[in-house]
Amino acid sequence: MKSLFTALAARSATRTVAGRLALAWLPLSFVIGVAVWHYETERVEARVLNDAVADSRRVKDAELDRYYRHQLTLVDLHGAARKVLGDFVSVEIYDGNKAELVHELNERAVLVPTELWRRAETVPLSDRPSYEQVSLNDRMTIITVVPLENESKDIIGYLKGIYIISDDMLAEMREDSIGAVVVALGSMLVTMLVAFPIIVLLQRRDAAQTRLLLQGNLELLEVLGNVVAHRDSDTDSHNYRVTLYALRLAEHMGLTEDSIRILVVGAFLHDVGKVGVSDTILLKPGKLTEEEFRIMKSHVAIGEQIVQRSGWLAQAACVVKCHHEKFDGTGYPCGLEGKDIPVEARLFAVADVFDALTSRRPYKEPLVFDAALEIMRRNSGSHFDPDMFAHFQAVASRIYHDIGQASYEELRSTLLASVQRYFIAP
Ligand SMILES: [Fe+2]
Repeated sequence: MKSLFTALAARSATRTVAGRLALAWLPLSFVIGVAVWHYETERVEARVLNDAVADSRRVKDAELDRYYRHQLTLVDLHGAARKVLGDFVSVEIYDGNKAELVHELNERAVLVPTELWRRAETVPLSDRPSYEQVSLNDRMTIITVVPLENESKDIIGYLKGIYIISDDMLAEMREDSIGAVVVALGSMLVTMLVAFPIIVLLQRRDAAQTRLLLQGNLELLEVLGNVVAHRDSDTDSHNYRVTLYALRLAEHMGLTEDSIRILVVGAFLHDVGKVGVSDTILLKPGKLTEEEFRIMKSHVAIGEQIVQRSGWLAQAACVVKCHHEKFDGTGYPCGLEGKDIPVEARLFAVADVFDALTSRRPYKEPLVFDAALEIMRRNSGSHFDPDMFAHFQAVASRIYHDIGQASYEELRSTLLASVQRYFIAP
């Protein structure tokens, strides 16, 4: 017979990986796109600045020197300043005492607002090349100051210019920046497309290994639980039935998936400690003596020790240990009271007692549904958490109808279908 959980199917990893890669690509693209754009803008600004300073140098220091030696006239110096115009809309040449000698403008000077002229006037004539960058209608504008030197490296004058980037250069630089962003994003996309099949393959291998491990754990759970169920019951249906009752009640109450996993494993193994109790006591038709009952009660401690030996089964320890605790504190082994009893154990106690009352055992006949529920109602608040029992009453009839009379195979297949979403990772 196939294991209960052998048929659990793996979900496609491909869609998950593709979704996660897309999720990673979108924000990464945004961040990298912004970073590349910023880098390119800085690069462009540096290029503009270099061009501006280089253009300034087109006024040969020697020309000013020759003017001082009276080898050139002021008209010649105007000509030297005009050579710099182009992307410069204004060029001023000063002598060594910072007195203006010439000031040349080109036709784009009319575009320069008054405040920029005022700003340019405030830029000091410094002895080292310097610049100030200003924004003029979002167009890059630079005010440059370049000292002019003679052959002896003495400063003999200054050149101050207003440089406004041309339309052609602006368009070319924008194209360069957009191109760089497109290349960066495209490279990222290609990398992800190449990595995608590799990641899917690795993820599938990993998922297959995980499923094998999980399947092994679930088979162990089934075998271990059924070993005990066979001993004190005609069949091992009790484990499947009580697990389904508990699961349905937990889903009705909206327990977390973590709690439901604990509950399922705990329900299946709740009486695993009975392997340590002799048949004489376990199957005794009459009332147990005090000593026999003491031994019988030890099954919760034995069960806890058994499940604690497996990291995966240990999650169910709270149900195994506390499923005989009672809400009023009169249960065992610890006499826990009320909400001190773990919610999974409180819930399981309802399912376990209901199934014990309504099913056949070697030593008793089953009760009908109404009689069983009436007995439990009388024990609500003493044995059972009253809130939990109220939830159970709301669904008891429906789940008993679905599960109470089901065959062993029906119970198995129903449990298979019901628990897979809690144990199989997407
Ligand atoms: Fe028990």
